[in-house]
Amino acid sequence: MRIFVDTANIDEIRDAAKLGVVSGVTTNPSLMAKEQGKDFQSTIEEIADIVRGPVSAEVVALTAEGMIKEARAIAAWSPYVVVKIPITKAGLQATSVLSREGVKTNLTLCFSPNQALLSALAGATYVSPFVGRLDDAGHDGMQVVAESVAILKSYDFGTQVIAASIRHPLHCVAAAKAGAHIATVPYKVLMQMIEHPLTDVGIQRFVADWEKTGARIP
Ligand code: E4P
Repeated sequence: MRIFVDTANIDEIRDAAKLGVVSGVTTNPSLMAKEQGKDFQSTIEEIADIVRGPVSAEVVALTAEGMIKEARAIAAWSPYVVVKIPITKAGLQATSVLSREGVKTNLTLCFSPNQALLSALAGATYVSPFVGRLDDAGHDGMQVVAESVAILKSYDFGTQVIAASIRHPLHCVAAAKAGAHIATVPYKVLMQMIEHPLTDVGIQRFVADWEKTGARIP
């Protein structure tokens, strides 16, 4: 499973990219709104320049024609751009046109395996089940990821499943076990994945014991 970082914050993306474990970024209008005063196009171009991997940028039009127009414009910003499109009738129509043109798409706001199947049939590059929001509504979000992965793999669709709306490190473990191709994780969760109190205690002990030896590494 690959890891994308789910943020539009340049500082977080720069810091995460240094780890060498992040291969892409997802943004959405709410994440963009947190970056007060930042221009959409230049932010996406800057992110693409940092990660040099897939960067999802979302359309805001609600009609197929509007989505197609916005998607063509967004796709021209960088070869790394993936256009995020909500799964609606208009979104599926737009995706089927855009996929034939070679525009990469990430079908977003996926809450059921049927929506994932339709996304794949429309030619989506990625589909993103929203785990946390499903859990919040009393459903099993990870089951939607697992069922979507199973369906798409059974029929050899090229569409990749991104486990999205990740809230904590255990979601990442479950996404990997469910066979998700990618988990897109907030910066905070990425940092939590690194940390373990026993690692910290272990380092303290090693440092203390090493100092007792009096030895030095040249
Ligand atoms: C993914 O592509 C979405 O941007 C994101 O994961 C949504 O997460 P949220 O439910 O925490 O807003």
